Amino acid sequence: MNAPLIDPFARRIDYLRVSVTDRCDFRCTYCMAEHMTFLPKKELLTLEELDRLCSAFVRMGVRKLRITGGEPLVRKGIMTFFEGMSRHLGGLLDELTLTTNGSQLERFAQPLADAGVRRINVSLDTLDPEKFRAITRWGSLDKVRRGIAAAQAAGLRIKINTVALKGFNEAELFDLLAWCAAEEMDLTFIEVMPMGDMGEVQRLDQYWPLKDLRARLAERYTLTELSHRTGGPARYVRIEETGQQIGFITPLTHNFCESCNRVRVTCTGELYMCLGQEDMADLRAPLRMSEADAPLEDAIRRAIARKPKGHDFDYSRQAVEGQVTRHMSHTGG
Ligand code: GTP
Ligand code: 5AD
Ligand code: SF4
Repeated sequence: MNAPLIDPFARRIDYLRVSVTDRCDFRCTYCMAEHMTFLPKKELLTLEELDRLCSAFVRMGVRKLRITGGEPLVRKGIMTFFEGMSRHLGGLLDELTLTTNGSQLERFAQPLADAGVRRINVSLDTLDPEKFRAITRWGSLDKVRRGIAAAQAAGLRIKINTVALKGFNEAELFDLLAWCAAEEMDLTFIEVMPMGDMGEVQRLDQYWPLKDLRARLAERYTLTELSHRTGGPARYVRIEETGQQIGFITPLTHNFCESCNRVRVTCTGELYMCLGQEDMADLRAPLRMSEADAPLEDAIRRAIARKPKGHDFDYSRQAVEGQVTRHMSHTGG
C-alpha cells in the first residue's frame, strides 16, 4: 500500500499543496472578486481529517507539504495542525511550509518556526502602501512588513512571490530587487494565470510576460542560469552583481508541466490533479466512510492515475484560453 505515487506520464508525485481555508483577509484583485461567497464551515475538513489525509499522502511518498489557502493563517486552530504534521519531519517528510500573505505572521512566525517550518513564501506585489491597499483591496503593507520582520527574527528564510502585473509593478522591478537583496530574501516572479472569471480584457491587460521582465533585468545585470530546484515550478537565475537568486514561474511563456510533481487538496477534501484543469476527485467521502485509511488511499491512487499532462492556459492569440472557473484561492495556487 505504500508504493510511491506515479502518474500516467511517469512523474513521481512527492509534493502536496493543501488549502486549509478558502477565506482570506485580503481580496487581491487578480485572485478574488470583492464580494466572495465562502464555503459554510461545516463543509470543511476538520483539523483531524486534514492530518489524516496529509499523513496518508506522506506514507505514499509525499516529501514536501505546503499549506496554502485563501490565507492559511486565518484558519482557526491551524497551529495545532502544523504541530501535528511536524511529527513527520526528519522521517518521511523533508519540508513543511506555507505560502502566506504575511498579514498574520507577527503572531504566528515563532510558533511556525517552533513547529519545524524553515522557509516560507510570502506574497507581495508592491512596496507602495497605497498600491498595496489597491491591489489587495483590504491589506496593510505596514502589517505585512512587520510580519516579515517577525519571521526573520524567528529565523525563517523568506521567499517573496510577486505576480508580474503590467502597468502595476513594472516600474518597481528594481526597487523590489533591491529591497529583497537588503533583507536577504529570495524573490520569485509569477505570470498571471486565468483562474476565476475577471473578464478577458482585464487579464490580457494585466499580463506581463516574464521573458520581457527578464530581458529588462538583463539590461542592467548579468544573469546566470541556475540548475538547482526547490521542488516547485520556479526556474532560478543568479544576479552576479548582487549574488541574489531570482525565480521565474512561467505557466504562460514556458510551460513547466512536464516536470510536474504536485497535486492539490482543497479545504473540503477535493483533490485537484492539476491547477489548470477542472477534473478532481472527492477525498472527503472515503475519508469519512471508514476509520481505516484503505478507501482513502484507494481514492488517491485512482485519482493520480488520471492526472492530466498539463494546463491549457494560453494568451498567445490575444485571447484568454484554457481558463478555469475556480478562483486561485480555491486551490491555493
Ligand atoms: P518553492 O517551494 O519555493 O519552490 O515554492 P512553490 O513555487 O512550489 O510554491 P508557491 O506557493 O510559492 O507557488 C508559487 C505559485 O506558483 C503558485 O501560487 C502558483 O501560482 C504557481 N504554481 C505552483 N505550482 C504550479 C503548477 O503546477 N502549475 C501552475 N500553472 N502554476 C503553479
Ligand atoms: N495568477 C498568478 N498568480 C496568482 N496568485 C493568485 N492569483 C493568481 C493568478 N491569477 C498568486 C498569489 C500568491 C500565490 C498563492 O498565487 O499572489 O503568490
Ligand atoms: Fe488572499 Fe492570496 Fe488570493 Fe490575495 S492572492 S486574495 S492574499 S488568497
